[in-house]
Amino acid sequence: MNVLLIGSGGREHALAWALAKSPLIEALYAAPGNAGIDRVATSAGLDVADHAAVVAFCREKAIDLVVVGPEAPLVAGLADDLVAAGIRVFGPSTAAARLEGSKGFTKDLCAKYGIPTGAYGRFTDAASAAAYVRDKGAPIVVKADGLAAGKGVVVAMTEEQALDAVAACFEGSFGDAGAEVVIEAFLDGEEASFFAICDGKTALPLATAQDHKRVFDGDEGPNTGGMGAYSPAPVMSDALVARTMAEIIEPTLRGMADMGCPFTGILYAGLMITKDGPELIEYNVRFGDPECQALMMRLESDLLELLLAAADGKLEGKSVSWRNESALCVVVAAKGYPGSYEKGTEIRGLDAAASDPAVEIFHAGTKADGDRILANGGRVLGVTALGTTVAEAQKRAYRAVDAIDWPEGFCRRDIGWRAVERERG
Ligand code: AMP
Ligand code: GLY
Repeated sequence: MNVLLIGSGGREHALAWALAKSPLIEALYAAPGNAGIDRVATSAGLDVADHAAVVAFCREKAIDLVVVGPEAPLVAGLADDLVAAGIRVFGPSTAAARLEGSKGFTKDLCAKYGIPTGAYGRFTDAASAAAYVRDKGAPIVVKADGLAAGKGVVVAMTEEQALDAVAACFEGSFGDAGAEVVIEAFLDGEEASFFAICDGKTALPLATAQDHKRVFDGDEGPNTGGMGAYSPAPVMSDALVARTMAEIIEPTLRGMADMGCPFTGILYAGLMITKDGPELIEYNVRFGDPECQALMMRLESDLLELLLAAADGKLEGKSVSWRNESALCVVVAAKGYPGSYEKGTEIRGLDAAASDPAVEIFHAGTKADGDRILANGGRVLGVTALGTTVAEAQKRAYRAVDAIDWPEGFCRRDIGWRAVERERG
């Protein structure tokens, strides 16, 4: 099989690493890639936004499957254009990617199919949004409807904060993404991420994870794309996984098929485990980054075989096997992230740091310069380790982090704290 992987983050390095292990793989290409991906895949040298060029490349290289990592190309219709050209793709159509691209779309789907989620309203003008906030009171959550790189959500503890957030959205703080605003009830509980692989009709549960979105230790500071993650999420018991499949994932899949936009790809449910059970906070239509890095370390099944089965509508009856161990990923970022940061500084000691067979160092924002590895983004590395407990995986990951020589980088020192505390009992 010849495979083209789209993306350039730590998530895509983990996917490339898992795909490269498949006995089915003949050639693995990647675009845009990074210095780590380029070690296991051949750079396709493609502009991913140029869908015609991607189609032409697939024809030239006889690509059997395109795997799309990030949401932006999906929302932009890359999967639709590949399918129209007769090329097999793993990832949803634009219409199905609305589950991530429009929070209002997802809330309406939940309302229509009885999927548990916070009560909400959708607004296209500031006055009625403000009236809704005053009527409901705080705490309350204000969200820009569209893709806002994780920055379009304000969890307002006071009415004033909520009104400020409404004003900011309609004043254009999030550009087009904020032209519509969703306001929803505050959900109280512990968060967990849940991943399912879908073929339009059938969903298979994959695994659970928890990530750390805030930049500083103790879950303080501004939100980021994710500073670390671990899998499984201890809060997600087998009973909660079964409820999530029955009450959230399966009705979503039926609803999407009903509405003429069947969902193929990864359904990533952001859940709040409330006292009444799992409720949906949001959907993403892809693997999480850095959750994917932890998941791929635990996956025993052949990833390529699974993605092919999903793309072909043949998931029914399949099962997925996982290592019993926990995996934990620590993101190493450039100092200044998620604000402004420097690019081009050299990272040393990566091979020594990865010498433990239970450790993999996935690259995110890196580029090669001859034999040197240079930082080329905000989140730069995902240092990932397996362990029989989260505490052991955490210890191994930080030992590897400490062996990396990159003075311009930083990481959180407490990834996994909630699970480690739970293990201590
Ligand atoms: P989202 O981008 O929708 O995942 O929201 C970002 C973060 O805001 C989530 O990870 C939650 O921590 C928080 N959040 C979003 N919606 C709610 C809600 N309804 N209740 C409580 N917290 C929320
Ligand atoms: N780690 C959060 C995300 O991928 O959206």
